[in-house]
Amino acid sequence: MGPMEVAGLLTVFAGLAFFVYFFFGSFAYGAGYEPTSARVADRMIRLANPSASDLVIDLGAGTGELALRVARDRGSRVRAVEIDRLRTVILSLRQRWGNDRDRVTIVRGNLFEEDLTRANVVFAFLWPATMARLRPKLERELRPGARFVTHYHPIPGWVPYATSGPVYAYRAPECWASVATRDDT
Ligand SMILES: C[S@@+](CC[C@H](N)C(=O)[O-])C[C@H]1O[C@@H](n2cnc3c(N)ncnc32)[C@H](O)[C@@H]1O
Repeated sequence: MGPMEVAGLLTVFAGLAFFVYFFFGSFAYGAGYEPTSARVADRMIRLANPSASDLVIDLGAGTGELALRVARDRGSRVRAVEIDRLRTVILSLRQRWGNDRDRVTIVRGNLFEEDLTRANVVFAFLWPATMARLRPKLERELRPGARFVTHYHPIPGWVPYATSGPVYAYRAPECWASVATRDDT
């Protein structure tokens, strides 16, 4: 094999390794990476209906599709929580180029350590097992009236106040209180 072929093979391997790292590396923490499409982000924002005075938290913000859009469209304050370093770098570059830099706070860390008690709206697009793990934290921390809106994977056992395709919107505490009432009967 000649030097050009070796270089070609190494490039392919490096590309593959980067692809696996970027899209699947964070699986162990709670989800791989898949950006929220503009169409789905608009649905999530419409169902959550945040205002300019609301605090919105995106749990697993990726490169900021949803976080930047909600700051831009609704003027809300946003905490974009993301565990992957490279994605937070891309997110901060996108934030710098946009007009909403003061409204978006990027938090590099584990979403399970984020305090949700002040949030009016919480967004998530995570792996099903992570939704089940998240449920007790949400039930402890979401304040009455706070909305939790998730793409693709619902919270097992909760009752949504609205759905739109693969988007589920819940309001605390009715979404879990109604389950408790139903279980009692
Ligand atoms: C499906 S993507 C979400 C996309 C994003 N919300 C958007 O608007 O494009 C899931 C993200 O959650 C992140 N993630 C997974 N587990 C996490 C954890 N425990 N703490 C923080 N972020 C996490 C992943 O790194 C990934 O970027």
